[in-house]
Amino acid sequence: MIATEGLRHVFGDQVSLAGIDLRVEAGQKVVLLGSNGCGKSTLLKLMAGVLAPTRGRVVYDDRAVHEGLRDREYRRRFRRDVGLLFQQADAMLFNATVLDEIAFGPRQHGLPDAADRARAWAARVGLEAVLMRAPWTLSAGQKQLVGLASLLVLDPKLLLLDEPTAALDPRSSGWLVDFLQDLPQTLIVATHNLSLAAELGRRCLVLGEDHTLIHDGEALSPQRDRDILLRANLLHSHRHRHAPGDGHDDDPLEHTHYHAHDWD
Ligand SMILES: Nc1ncnc2c1ncn2[C@@H]1O[C@H](COP(=O)(O)OP(=O)(O)OP(=O)(O)O)[C@@H](O)[C@H]1O
Ligand SMILES: [Mg+2]
Repeated sequence: MIATEGLRHVFGDQVSLAGIDLRVEAGQKVVLLGSNGCGKSTLLKLMAGVLAPTRGRVVYDDRAVHEGLRDREYRRRFRRDVGLLFQQADAMLFNATVLDEIAFGPRQHGLPDAADRARAWAARVGLEAVLMRAPWTLSAGQKQLVGLASLLVLDPKLLLLDEPTAALDPRSSGWLVDFLQDLPQTLIVATHNLSLAAELGRRCLVLGEDHTLIHDGEALSPQRDRDILLRANLLHSHRHRHAPGDGHDDDPLEHTHYHAHDWD
């Protein structure tokens, strides 16, 4: 469905991606992990054609995206097929109401029944109650859901989601994992949420702090893949206090060990 070949990106003298080769097949659900600043958002923006590669290319539909986007017909198809949910959902919300926001894409693409489609998708992500509100008055989690609905309403083939659970409470995050699992779309989801990664993606990509791909394979397990997780800064240590008799009697009362907070 989409591939990157020798994809490199720099912002001035700051390397953000150092040569990434990967291929994602139609129907795959892929999770993208890595520490702050390793290049996850940059990779998704390059795949969405929002940023241009410094070197290498992104290939969609047998054509280099950056070059294809100069062609009106390719651009139209690509914009309909590929949706990017920005890490800061605010960046994509600019209409007067939630309803207009979700209907904007269908209207741009000249689809019939834009408002009905928008209402239906708003209902599916639980936004009926805020349809007539201005998007800027919503909570961060609600904004992310508006961003998601405004992509899904176009029935894209490939969804690129940049930390979609970052502003969601635990129940909404759980709901989103199930919702994403059931979508027919090919998905690439950047996240720091390791439990989401384990549930959602059978395939897991990890970017290292050197901005290269250090893992492309099965979902990671905290026991088996400790080295990769430590290299990618996905486990951390800090001091714990345990009460006497809570199962840590052989440890000092205050001790340090590696763990991921959201992972049982
Ligand atoms: N507009 C920019 N100008 C300069 N440097 C940038 C810009 N955007 C990103 N960078 C740098 O590129 C690198 C990769 O950033 P990116 O946003 O892709 O990381 P990330 O993996 O998404 O991090 P996070 O987990 O914090 O979202 C970082 O070092 C970042 O500082
Ligand atoms: Mg990011």
